[in-house]
Amino acid sequence: MKDVIIACDFSSGTQVLEFLDKFASCARKPFVKIGMELYYAEGPSIVREIKKRGHRIFLDLKLHDIPNTVRKTMKVLSNLDVDMTNVHAAGTIDMMKAALEGLTREDGTRPLLIAVTQLTSTSEERMQKELLIGAGIADTIAHYASNAAEAGLDGVVCSPLEAAMVKEKCGSGFIAVTPGIRFADAAADDQVRITTPARAREIGSDFIVVGRPITAAEDPVAAYERCVKEFLPE
Ligand code: C5P
Repeated sequence: MKDVIIACDFSSGTQVLEFLDKFASCARKPFVKIGMELYYAEGPSIVREIKKRGHRIFLDLKLHDIPNTVRKTMKVLSNLDVDMTNVHAAGTIDMMKAALEGLTREDGTRPLLIAVTQLTSTSEERMQKELLIGAGIADTIAHYASNAAEAGLDGVVCSPLEAAMVKEKCGSGFIAVTPGIRFADAAADDQVRITTPARAREIGSDFIVVGRPITAAEDPVAAYERCVKEFLPE
């Protein structure tokens, strides 16, 4: 179940397909994350194309709307045959339940559904001052994670440093999908709360989401293989 997900943060289909071509001879077919930028640029056809090439897909669109709209949208995304998608936990338990209903296909199968708790770009200060959420950020994340579990979701996106807390609160089977991954000898870029693939494994991440350390590497395939070796040692 554990895997390395490459965040394919490209703005065109040509760029992402050229990038994925490099992995043609790779023994492992990478699990890829498609975000808003690429999806809004290319639409569902890019999802179908990448799926046709045999990759598993995390469609990271972070839905947040009224339950009825989210239910109907999730039905459409489920038909795209993605493997994982997500919503904002801030949309409430009712919205997360509606997402789950929409995502579930007639035969009972569905993609994994993950909740975003608080974005890693939101500081505790801004959350309290601008959003008027009085609790601390760690308590908010833990509470949103337990709301997601109550709604029946499979897990949350969180910083690897929060994965242990989430598992403690929601059970070891509740999935932690963690961005903010950097190699020990690399730059942090704009990420603040970061850790290495090996440390993320020790803390309990189920899926690490890795973007620039692979996409901007001189040799992306070698960087991906290094991530896999550190995160999933045989
Ligand atoms: O390039 P980098 O490894 O920082 O990319 C991390 C990916 O994970 C990006 O696609 C980013 O949008 C996403 N992400 C994140 N922090 C979150 C949620 C998603 O970095 N809390």
